[in-house]
Amino acid sequence: MTVTRKAYRAAILHSIADPAEVGVQASHEYFEDGLLVIEQGRISAVGHASALLPTLAADIEVVHYQDALITPGFIDTHIHFPQTGMIGSYGEQLLDWLNTYTFPCERQFADKAHADQVAKLFIDELLRNGTTTALVFGSVHPESVNALFEQAERLDLRLIAGKVMMDRNAPDYLTDSAESGYQDSKALIQRWHGKGRLHYAVTPRFAPTSTPEQLAAAGRLLKEHPGVYLHTHLSENLKEIDWVKQLFPERSGYLDVYDHFELLGERSVFAHGVHLCDEECQRLAETGSAVAFCPTSNLFLGSGLFNLPQAERFKVNVGLGTDVGAGTSFSLLNTLNEAYKVMQLQGAPLHPFKSLYLATLGGARALHLDDRIGSLRVGNDADFVVLDYKATPLLDYRLQQSTSIEETLFVLTTLGDDRTVRETFAAGRSVHRR
Ligand code: GUN
Ligand code: ZN
Repeated sequence: MTVTRKAYRAAILHSIADPAEVGVQASHEYFEDGLLVIEQGRISAVGHASALLPTLAADIEVVHYQDALITPGFIDTHIHFPQTGMIGSYGEQLLDWLNTYTFPCERQFADKAHADQVAKLFIDELLRNGTTTALVFGSVHPESVNALFEQAERLDLRLIAGKVMMDRNAPDYLTDSAESGYQDSKALIQRWHGKGRLHYAVTPRFAPTSTPEQLAAAGRLLKEHPGVYLHTHLSENLKEIDWVKQLFPERSGYLDVYDHFELLGERSVFAHGVHLCDEECQRLAETGSAVAFCPTSNLFLGSGLFNLPQAERFKVNVGLGTDVGAGTSFSLLNTLNEAYKVMQLQGAPLHPFKSLYLATLGGARALHLDDRIGSLRVGNDADFVVLDYKATPLLDYRLQQSTSIEETLFVLTTLGDDRTVRETFAAGRSVHRR
């Protein structure tokens, strides 16, 4: 790794706590003229430029950004890499959408050359949008995960991914078996988990596409490899939930299926959770499990409105997910724009500092990585973005009317997208510049 020792001067904003726990004012730190100092890929100091500049060693280069805001890199807690090529597929809800568009698209990832090509595009797109960490679904093919990790390793990204396990209710060309899914996942864990900043997630697609034997094998993988993640879907769509009831009549509900196979825990992330009852929220919270709130996907597939206040009441860890390709944008700024609207429809508009939390520290907590990423704490990985107040003429003009960082932040999440991201840094290295 290149040794980097550099300082960045701009406005700086980061979350330090969940606004639901400490209130919005105590949830963040803001330095109007701030300085972020990076050494060896880590943050070594953050604060007011006036206080820190005199303490800097003479040989540290200071990069000064005008009209810009530094925040932690964004954290996408649910996305599908093999669905990049089918984003924006028309007209279906979840189960028909999977059969019509998703499965044929994922089939192509049996070909490593295809997987390599899409992995490069996918990682570039994450970085263009300021996303420095993502929890990623591969396809059923181990090659897809090798392609993605190879690309992420090259850039020293903190990334979590896994191969899909799926041994029923899917086309033959896209299924593994309980045994091969177990063996292939195990080989990938041994090859990639803990290599650099990479982590592995055991990834059964969702309860309907795994036999009880395969879900048991997933539970075994978690037990045998402490520290690996569990990544799946939960209670996204009403027809899906009915189907799970038919397939697992002996279980009390959807979450109970996963619970029975011992898939809940501090490193378990369940995408969607749009239709959860209080008991399920309670169980998610007491096991330290997390839910990925994926607003653009939930709207696009007509799945429903995620009940964030319910999750907050039970203290469930919640991260933000794009869920590309059901989700319609790689941008977590754009995803927050839609999250705000989802909450407005439920009479509980999302506060801008809660938005910042969801896209950064909340995501890190959902991934059990808040000791490394999600905020600009000293010692954390230097994963951060520089947002451009002048990215578009409209943003520039609108922000000239802003009278507070709170207002600026809200406008950034309303108008922001990939154009807003001037530069993205991973482990202290610039990995994207507009
Ligand atoms: N449930 C099972 N598979 C999928 C998928 O690929 N996308 C979404 N949004 N939900 C799913
Ligand atoms: Zn998904």
